[in-house]
Amino acid sequence: MLMLKLHHIPLLLTVTGLGLLPSSLLAQANAPQSTATIETRSERFATNLPDQYQSWRATAEQSKQVDALAEDPRLVILWAGYAFAKDYNKPRGHAFALTDVRATLRTGAPKTAEDGPLPMACWSCKSPDVARVINQQGEEHYFRGQWARGGPEIVNPLGCADCHNTASAAFKQGKPELTLSRPYADRAMQSLGKSFHSEGRLSQQSMVCGQCHVEYYFSGKNKAVKFPWDQGTRVDDMEDYYDKLNFSDWVHPLSKTPMLKAQHPEFETWRAGIHGKNNVTCIDCHMPKVQNSAGKVYTDHKIGNPFDNFDQSCANCHTQDKASLQAVVAQRKHDVNEIKLKVEDQLVHAHFEAKAAWSAGVSSAEMQPILQDIRHAQWRWDYAIASHGVHMHAPDVALRVLATALDKAASARTKLARVLATKGISHEIALPDISSKEKAQLALGMDMQQLNAEKQQFLNTVVPRWDEQARNAGLLGK
Ligand code: HEC
Ligand code: HEC
Ligand code: HEC
Ligand code: HEC
Repeated sequence: MLMLKLHHIPLLLTVTGLGLLPSSLLAQANAPQSTATIETRSERFATNLPDQYQSWRATAEQSKQVDALAEDPRLVILWAGYAFAKDYNKPRGHAFALTDVRATLRTGAPKTAEDGPLPMACWSCKSPDVARVINQQGEEHYFRGQWARGGPEIVNPLGCADCHNTASAAFKQGKPELTLSRPYADRAMQSLGKSFHSEGRLSQQSMVCGQCHVEYYFSGKNKAVKFPWDQGTRVDDMEDYYDKLNFSDWVHPLSKTPMLKAQHPEFETWRAGIHGKNNVTCIDCHMPKVQNSAGKVYTDHKIGNPFDNFDQSCANCHTQDKASLQAVVAQRKHDVNEIKLKVEDQLVHAHFEAKAAWSAGVSSAEMQPILQDIRHAQWRWDYAIASHGVHMHAPDVALRVLATALDKAASARTKLARVLATKGISHEIALPDISSKEKAQLALGMDMQQLNAEKQQFLNTVVPRWDEQARNAGLLGK
């Protein structure tokens, strides 16, 4: 039984009245505005809003990169034929969002603005310049064309204008409102019956994070970002939504399954979990109110692990000590991880068994129900595990989703055993050596050396040109 303290409520009320104005800010607010353009150079706010600025900058301290494929090479097989099999690191500090999208092998090595492989949409959750370009030129224009087209435009790291309207007078006065800077996120929230401006402050706080920490796909000829929420945000709702659209992200080269790749449905799983249901927001844990050296309360913008701020986050509501709550969360992580690996093992086998079934001449009609099971099983697995922090946010949801994934994978493998038997195959289908990331990639025939060399060339030649163009256009802060 968890004990809740009530004193966090008065605390939240006290800080609403915050935002005492430094006089320099007042002067600036009264100065004529050259343009009402959204300011994406967060450095511009360093002097006037030092507490928020410095803590925002400190996300650069969360620099550790963890190679998820090296940690768990099964992922290479599950994402075979898709860019995630090349390269996938776990998330790190906001300061790296832009650096990392440029550096990942997934975005390839385009030489010109027209080169693929990815569309403009892949910048969407990486930089405040996305908000600026959409504001200036509209979504239609923003989404048009390939990712490389945005190189010289989308240049500032995730910053103030992602969550605040930096063009507003209120922001300049140090009393910023939160905003949905992405119109497609605003529309998606409305499909859940949440109109940003009529929502309360707490609800708005989580919606701001929910612009990016969500499941999405690229829709239409412009490949614009859309959240698949028309039927709801549960795993079943989105699965049905995608099925009705006949949507798939890619076709798996081993099993020939039309696959779905879940992105990172943190907002969706948070709202289904115990804290979300109690309207404990992302901000309560990840951006608590703290004090500066002069005793002034401000919102900590160093978004990271809330346990680093235990006294200002969990302890506002819970009476347990840090070690016991950490132990609870660690146990949940362990349990989710255990079932996650079981699903992965089943799915890896299913992909290879389906390949063997195709090779043995099993008909497409017989394969259809099997492929549907694989599609649903892997989607469910991905929904659970791509939702970072799910063991904390909604462990019950994660375990239920993984259990249904396990059930669907079992269903696929039972059917596979049956169709393989009709072709006289009763032995176990052997797996290649996938004991390391490199071996798994080799088993799929991926030429990693070439991909890496091309990427290096891109980072050494194309990216500096983008930055130079941006600097000349006055888009960069430093
Ligand atoms: C990822 C989203 C996000 C980013 C990026 C962000 N903020 Fe905030 N900001 C918030 C949230 C959430 C609050 C708290 C709002 C509330 O209390 O309801 C906040 C509050 C504030 C406040 C009000 C005073 C306070 O401390 O509560 C100021 C001023 C502010 N931010 C400035 C900035 C500046 C300057 C930057 C860029 C250097 C920035 N913010 C970047 C989400 C963000
Ligand atoms: C504009 C899109 C965007 C918004 C808005 C946003 N995030 Fe993020 N967030 C990202 C991206 C992208 C990453 C991964 C960065 C990387 O690994 O390069 C990330 C990473 C994180 C991480 C991992 C940090 C670490 O050190 O491991 C946390 C936690 C997080 N975000 C929480 C939040 C919260 C809470 C909010 C709302 C206040 C929020 N984010 C708003 C895009 C966003
Ligand atoms: C009740 C507190 C709480 C709430 C509410 C909460 N989080 Fe978290 N979140 C955590 C904790 C604690 C962790 C780290 C868990 C761990 O240490 O294993 C975490 C982890 C994360 C991570 C993974 C970071 C990484 O590097 O793997 C992301 C991303 C994230 N949260 C985003 C969000 C978003 C977005 C919301 C709101 C939609 C949210 N969180 C709401 C407590 C919370
Ligand atoms: C703003 C208040 C608030 C904050 C901050 C908060 N919690 Fe909670 N927590 C709650 C509420 C409300 C519940 C639901 C209690 C209930 O229904 O009995 C809860 C429940 C829990 C539970 C039990 C959930 C379950 O599955 O039964 C755990 C564990 C927990 N919180 C851990 C944390 C941790 C760890 C943090 C900090 C990272 C944190 N909480 C921050 C309010 C909060």
